[in-house]
Amino acid sequence: MSAFDLTRLLPADHFSHALRHDVQRGLTASPKWLPPKWFYDARGSELFEEITRLPEYYPTRAEREILTGHAGDIAALTRARTLVELGSGSSEKTRLLLDALRDLGTLGTYVPVDVSESALEAAGAALTADYPGLAVHAVLADFTRGLGLPPGGGPRLLAFLGGTLGNFLPEERAGFLRMVRAALEPGDALLLGTDLVKDPAVLVAAYDDAAGVTAEFNRNVLNVLDRELDADFDPETFEHVAHWDAEQEWIEMRLRSTRTQTVKIPALDMPVHFEAGEELRTEVSAKFRRERVAAELAAAGMRLSHWWTDGGGRFGLSLAEPA
Ligand code: AVJ
Repeated sequence: MSAFDLTRLLPADHFSHALRHDVQRGLTASPKWLPPKWFYDARGSELFEEITRLPEYYPTRAEREILTGHAGDIAALTRARTLVELGSGSSEKTRLLLDALRDLGTLGTYVPVDVSESALEAAGAALTADYPGLAVHAVLADFTRGLGLPPGGGPRLLAFLGGTLGNFLPEERAGFLRMVRAALEPGDALLLGTDLVKDPAVLVAAYDDAAGVTAEFNRNVLNVLDRELDADFDPETFEHVAHWDAEQEWIEMRLRSTRTQTVKIPALDMPVHFEAGEELRTEVSAKFRRERVAAELAAAGMRLSHWWTDGGGRFGLSLAEPA
């Protein structure tokens, strides 16, 4: 028998409070910015799935290649009974890990953690149908605030895939990794996917595709503000920008106002002025090198034990344990 349940770690109004807070803070800052988590309403999640299939957007395929080649090794090394996945989304790539752990005979429980209730429900329904005997304990949580993992069920494998670690700023990243370390018990492990530094032309193309899907994904955050905060952004008056910051080694997505304009956000009683050409930062996506991943894990009290890349050396998958 398989089973599905969903735990809400946060009060029902958490997301509307958090959105107001973030918009207030980010749009009164100079330069203006918004956190990337607000891309992912139903439409944004759909656009992101479309991005993962674009010819220019290699990270999803590169990470899947690594998992296809090494899920068996990861299962054998961790012998995990519980697989916890942060930012699980559609849980598509996760199946490679679930298959390997099931084949080894250790798998009992899958804990997907995500901000999207619809994604958790859909993944839970699909997985309980396809993995008889698997218990799926979904957690609706904002893992930038805390993991809220129940103890026990070890050995546990905590997976944070897709390169989403790169969305944190350096200090946030350090805090996040310390929080992950604190959740790990002896025998547990962290599986971490990180996109790697490479030719800037390849990186920029991955975030500025020819079909314009990433541009639509980027502008979608303005639709979210219009709907949730009754704002009057006209997304068509903002251009998509993908910028490689060679010093920080990250891609920055921005929205550039094509004209001087003042946007109303009635829910916050806040007019927001944009100069023509002014840019609003909507995402950083940091790119890594192996040494930096190892150093940041070590600083958080973890030891990098295994490192795999795809054949093209584009993406890195790390296995780490409490030091
Ligand atoms: C889901 C955060 C890993 O940074 O590459 C894709 C999101 N942004 N295209 C990334 C994203 C623009 C993606 N992550």
